[in-house]
Amino acid sequence: MAVKQLSGQWNRKDTVKSILFFLLHTIILIVVLAAVLLADELSHIREYMKENGADYLYALFAVIMLLLIMYFYFLFEDKEILRKFKDVTMIFAVLDLYFVASYYIGDLLSVYARPVAFVGLMVFSLSNRKNAIFMNIVSALLVFIIDTFSGGVTTSTNEYYSSLIIAFSAGMIAIFLCSQAKTRFSIVGIGILIVFPIDLIVFLLELSTLFSGEPSIAGLTVWQSIWVNMGFGLFGGVMSAILFLTVLPLFEFIFNRLTVFRLREMTSSDAKLLKRLKEEAPGTYNHSVMVAQLSEACALAIGENADYARAAALYHDVGKLAHPEHFTENQVKGDYNLHDELSPELSADIIRSHAQGGYALIQRNHLPQFFADVAVQHHGTLPIRYFYAKALKLSDSDSDLNIEDFSYLGPKPQTKVAAIIMIADAAEAAVRAQNAYQPEQAERAIRSVIEERMDLEQFSECDITMVDLTKIRHALVHTLTGVKHKRVEYPPIRYKRTESGTKGENE
Ligand SMILES: [Fe+2]
Ligand SMILES: [Fe+2]
Repeated sequence: MAVKQLSGQWNRKDTVKSILFFLLHTIILIVVLAAVLLADELSHIREYMKENGADYLYALFAVIMLLLIMYFYFLFEDKEILRKFKDVTMIFAVLDLYFVASYYIGDLLSVYARPVAFVGLMVFSLSNRKNAIFMNIVSALLVFIIDTFSGGVTTSTNEYYSSLIIAFSAGMIAIFLCSQAKTRFSIVGIGILIVFPIDLIVFLLELSTLFSGEPSIAGLTVWQSIWVNMGFGLFGGVMSAILFLTVLPLFEFIFNRLTVFRLREMTSSDAKLLKRLKEEAPGTYNHSVMVAQLSEACALAIGENADYARAAALYHDVGKLAHPEHFTENQVKGDYNLHDELSPELSADIIRSHAQGGYALIQRNHLPQFFADVAVQHHGTLPIRYFYAKALKLSDSDSDLNIEDFSYLGPKPQTKVAAIIMIADAAEAAVRAQNAYQPEQAERAIRSVIEERMDLEQFSECDITMVDLTKIRHALVHTLTGVKHKRVEYPPIRYKRTESGTKGENE
């Protein structure tokens, strides 16, 4: 399932845009249908259309009706898809691909070999379960309309209906099983599992041939043709998974879509930037893992997407990779501090550049835009107090010092998740620096982190509420003191080996 995107107000301009997007893709789909169906008839298209024109006209109206219903479904159920040209293209591209694959597989092999679960699996992964269920129905009906009214690829009426039933039910079962899929490769298992319902339906539908004694495949016995058709069913299930595994990464890349599979791969410690962080800036890596855990708890507490918050938090400080040794968490205690030789202005410049640097690095690595936004927003426009204080100490008068020269460039957090990561980041550092792992100490430290950010108006550009901030504070105290609770000190025991056994005594 894809991660939920943020929404805004829907206005008349959005309606006009969505109609235009949909109309354009409807035309493209009709052109694709015509190109596939009429490719062999081009040499005698006039005569062909004279004979079959009425059927094609009927098919055309049926397809337009189906797409009109599809538009209204998204308008009432998921407007966000209609808002972006890219998202409408993505949904139609899945439908176009399914039609082309179904047509040729049906033509070359059998209608039972079609990749029936493809649309359900794709839309589930790229969007959500509700849209997947709806698009599964649309795709099954689309192929049924083409089969029925345009002289599609099938020959027997029985096969029209059986392929409709198979497409609908196998797609639905695949969608239900998909919720359990942890990795994209477990989809192969789903492809194999859906073979059972497909083959059961094929078997039941083909049973009628036992009574009539006429096999559905010419040249074979009735039982042979049943087995062959069930083999095609197996091919259809496996084909759905193979097509899904091949096409999904392409769609994730082209449409920059954040699926749960992609999110899991990006948050693995083997992900390219996280691996670099672990090797080149281990202190920052440990800090990021902690901030990720805290952000996840905070997101859960205020009803935001916890997976999304956790993933974005893991990447919030990747900009430090440019100069890892300039950040405290990567310096060994007692070691020579690189900032001792630098002017406070230069030090502040290096420190604050990690926000912009992270933004650029995340974009260069084609990671989600949201990660880049969090990286550049997680310090908002806060001053870097340590170096500002150092500059004040070094200067004769403070009049020529501008605090903005010692502040992050922003922007301030634009979303609740970015605000969560800003707070969790500072809370983790404050509690660690003050060793404030007792609940009251942690509460005080976190309260002051939130209050300082409120005083400096860091939340003025996102819709976080006081209720949210209170819940975040509780979640942080609970997680930090729960994770870093003080352990009971055990008295040391010295063990003595005697002839009768081992004895212990207090040291
Ligand atoms: Fe940072
Ligand atoms: Fe940080």
